[in-house]
Amino acid sequence: MKHFLSLAELSPEELKSILDLAVQIKDAWRAGNAAPVLKGKVMGMIFQKPSLRTRVSFDVAMLQLGGNALYLSPNEIQLGKRESVADVARVISRYVDIVMARVFSHHDLVEFAKYAAVPLINGLSDYSHPCQGVADFLTMVEHKGTLQGKKLVYLGDGNNVSTSLLFGASLLGMDFAIATPKGYELNPAVWTLGEKFAAESGAQLLATYDPVEAVSGADVLYTDAWASMGQEEEAEKRRRVFPPYRIDEGLLAHAKEDAIVMHCLPAHRGEEITDAVADGPQSVLFDEAENRLHAQKAIIVWLLDAM
Ligand code: CP
Ligand code: NVA
Repeated sequence: MKHFLSLAELSPEELKSILDLAVQIKDAWRAGNAAPVLKGKVMGMIFQKPSLRTRVSFDVAMLQLGGNALYLSPNEIQLGKRESVADVARVISRYVDIVMARVFSHHDLVEFAKYAAVPLINGLSDYSHPCQGVADFLTMVEHKGTLQGKKLVYLGDGNNVSTSLLFGASLLGMDFAIATPKGYELNPAVWTLGEKFAAESGAQLLATYDPVEAVSGADVLYTDAWASMGQEEEAEKRRRVFPPYRIDEGLLAHAKEDAIVMHCLPAHRGEEITDAVADGPQSVLFDEAENRLHAQKAIIVWLLDAM
């Protein structure tokens, strides 16, 4: 049985095959021949944090493939509070075929996976956001073709989303640069894993404090919230440190002329990205949001061996 907790747990071939499957599933859906390969299957969706994209796209993914999803709000399960993580995993495994969980602590996912008898999907943790990563690389393939040798640049916080982007890019042989303020770098253990994958794939990696240095020659620019869910009390402090990393038209001008701009959303317009860029001709924000649906169908089908 497989789980889907981090892109770093996949081989390059596995990540590529999930991306190929996503393309195939999206094409079939567009042509109106999506087969109900998940008929009779039920997903349990455990949320400790709010969500628009993850909640709706997983629910719709299950429905469109013939299955069902159950939304379990932060107040219901209270993972680790009302009941231990291990007991929740053992109980829910008796009812559903697959679980998706959005949690504060990644350790809870690892613990859950240890006791679950069904596949577990990371719907975002403090460590990584691998479903977002698959949707993002699908979007990059659609807009940029082959990713080998292209340059992805992330600006802002060294967080869960940038961790998944580093893993995906370094597995796929895509160059990756990240510019963060001092003190907000990616975790050194995460960077070391990225370097290990890059040594295999040939990807070039760069970590810098200089946004212009990072952006130079970029094919893809990416940003995310300066303060993630759970860091609300730091938001004010971060608003003072992060403005040089905002994607505005001035910074975008240092990227390649045909660079695309991405953001996992929700966006804090005027903070990490300006309206002019988010709504401008280079933005692919809403293609990216749509691709959560197609990417996650591929992840579910891959985990359940359903095709
Ligand atoms: N990008 C993303 O995961 O969005 P939600 O928090 O709305 O699910
Ligand atoms: N880094 C953000 C991503 C939201 C989808 C967070 O964790 O809140």
